[in-house]
Parts: sequence; C-alpha cells; structure tokens
Amino acid sequence: MELSPVSRITRSMEPILEISGLTKTYAGGFTALQGVDLTINKGEIFALLGPNGAGKTTLIGAVCGLVRPSSGTMRVFGEDITRNWRSLRARIGLVPQELATDMFETVLHTVNYSRGLFGLAPDPARIEEILRALSLWDKRKAQIRALSGGMKRRVLIAKALAHEPDLLFLDEPTAGVDVELRRDMWAQIAKLRDRGTTIILTTHYIEEAEEMADRVGIIQAGSIRMVEETRSLMKRLGRTEAHIGLVTPLACIPEVLAGYNLSLAQGGHELLYRGGDGYGGGKAEVAQLTKDLVANGIDYTSIDIRESSLEDIFVDLLEGAAA
Ligand SMILES: Nc1ncnc2c1ncn2[C@@H]1O[C@H](COP(=O)(O)OP(=O)(O)O)[C@@H](O)[C@H]1O
Ligand SMILES: [Mg+2]
Repeated sequence: MELSPVSRITRSMEPILEISGLTKTYAGGFTALQGVDLTINKGEIFALLGPNGAGKTTLIGAVCGLVRPSSGTMRVFGEDITRNWRSLRARIGLVPQELATDMFETVLHTVNYSRGLFGLAPDPARIEEILRALSLWDKRKAQIRALSGGMKRRVLIAKALAHEPDLLFLDEPTAGVDVELRRDMWAQIAKLRDRGTTIILTTHYIEEAEEMADRVGIIQAGSIRMVEETRSLMKRLGRTEAHIGLVTPLACIPEVLAGYNLSLAQGGHELLYRGGDGYGGGKAEVAQLTKDLVANGIDYTSIDIRESSLEDIFVDLLEGAAA
C-alpha cells in the first residue's frame, strides 16, 4: 500500500487544535515546554519529531488533560479547552506511550469500557469492526497480559478508537514493534485519516513521518524548532549525491558538463554529483549525466547514488540548532 503524502491534496486548512504560548514547568522546577505555538489542521497527519526528553509526551499530555500547563492557551475544535472540557475531551483519543491498562482484563472488555468512559452507548458492531481492523478479534477473549508486546500496543489503539475520536494522538505507537506490524499500523492510521480523523503522532522512526505525515514539526528542548510540509521539507533539503568512478582520471571538469553541479574526487578518478531534491529530480539528472558522459567518450566503471532521507535532514537540523 502506497502511503505517499504527495498525492493528497484535499485537506482543509480549518484549525482543529491551536496551541499558543504553552509552557510547562514540572514540580521539580524543570521546564519541559517553553512557549509552544502550534496549529494543527483538520484532517491532517502531523508528525512530531524530536529526541528523547524533548517534550513530546508532555505536549500531548497537556492537550489530553494529563499534564497541567503552567501557562498558555489551547483551543480544540474551535473552543477553549478549559470550557466544556468533558465534551471536548470525549472527541480526543490518545494512544499513550506507556502501556497503562488492566492486564487481567480481556481485550473486549477493556475496549468496551474505554468507549463507555466517554459516555457513549455500547455499540458491539462498531467495537467488532475496530477489533477486526486491528487483527484483535480472534484475541478478544484473551487477557491482555497474555498478548505479545505488539498485540498489546494494538489494544491501546483499539481503546483509543473505541469512542470514535475526531482528533487522535499516537505517542510513539510503533516503538518496539516489529517491521511487519509497523507497516500494518501505518495502513490502519492511513485508513483513519481517510475517514476524516486528524492524527498527531510522535515517533522515533523518521521513515514513518516521511512516509505518512502531511507535515512534520521538530521539537527540541521544549521548543518547536520548525514546522513544515513534509514534501516541501524534502524538496528544500533533500539531496541526491552520486559518485561516478571513472576509467581514466580527469584533470578538470570538461566544458560539456558545465551544466551539472560536479566536482572531482579521488585524484580525478571520481566524479562527484550533488543536486536535485528529495523527490527524484536528482536521479533523473544523474541519468542524463551518464548519457552525456558516454556521448563525450568519458567511460565510467561504477555509479554510487544516494538520496538523503528525512533522517539525514533531521540530524542536520538538530545539529544546526545545537550549534
Ligand atoms: N512528571 C515529571 N516531572 C518532572 N520532569 C518530567 C516529568 N515528566 C517528564 N519530565 C521531564 O520533561 C522532559 C520532557 O519529557 P517528555 O515530554 O516525556 O519528552 P519526550 O516525550 O519528548 O521524550 C524530560 O526531561 C523529562 O525528564
Ligand atoms: Mg515521550
């Protein structure tokens, strides 16, 4: 299943969550959030990226009522979060980072209970649909403690979906989950988005953000460093680098290749290309370059081409910010 963020164009710019000047200083005196401003639009998948301890879980906790902010305002669904709190909270789902559920309960009971917690009438058909979608239906009578780590994480997702939230937070939903299950979860998250759920996820797997998110935000030391559309970020900072091994070393870049961004390496034995963007433009240019090399009698023995990923960009940004 292709989950490209590129092809999605029908997204409203209606804000669903507006955070302004949010600060949190914990009782011990540690400031985990410093003046966070962030607006999330209806229907988008937003990935919040940041190193351990950056404040991701604190930020989510503040919106979900688990962390009391020190200052700042938050609006959800167009209303101040301090007004009508219960009815607003009922429209928010949270998949917590930590497993916090009664291990001796069965899957079905736990998920039904989560729905009831928000004042919704029981809906066995809906719960069955959720459990089936998460491949938990066969395990519905199992005690949670008997499930594998990945299955337990699915239960957390089922619990968060049980009351059909419009805004869903997933705090590192795929941490410690194997690759196959992770892919499965991405597909589930994409389906939710297609149904109109707005999704905010935190992750350590940058690949996950790159593949799924409409926008990414980078948080570091309690401050949002950057928010940008994933596609434009990749386009702006994504790069292609190609190392072309030459049969005969060159003393300088031939005039006919002046149109390419080239330099020589390895004493003229290697032609180094840099250019393009995060969306294949560089690869196409390298393909054209190889034709020009052949046409001009410059033989090559090898091409090593690599595209920078969001991971590279992320590391560069954090190093840049720390410098
Ligand atoms: N209850 C708490 N009391 C004191 N400090 C806390 C508490 N919870 C989190 N912190 C600190 O706040 C910072 C941000 O934590 P957290 O929001 O969990 O970060 P992240 O989810 O990005 O890893 C960390 O330095 C953490 O140690
Ligand atoms: Mg966290």
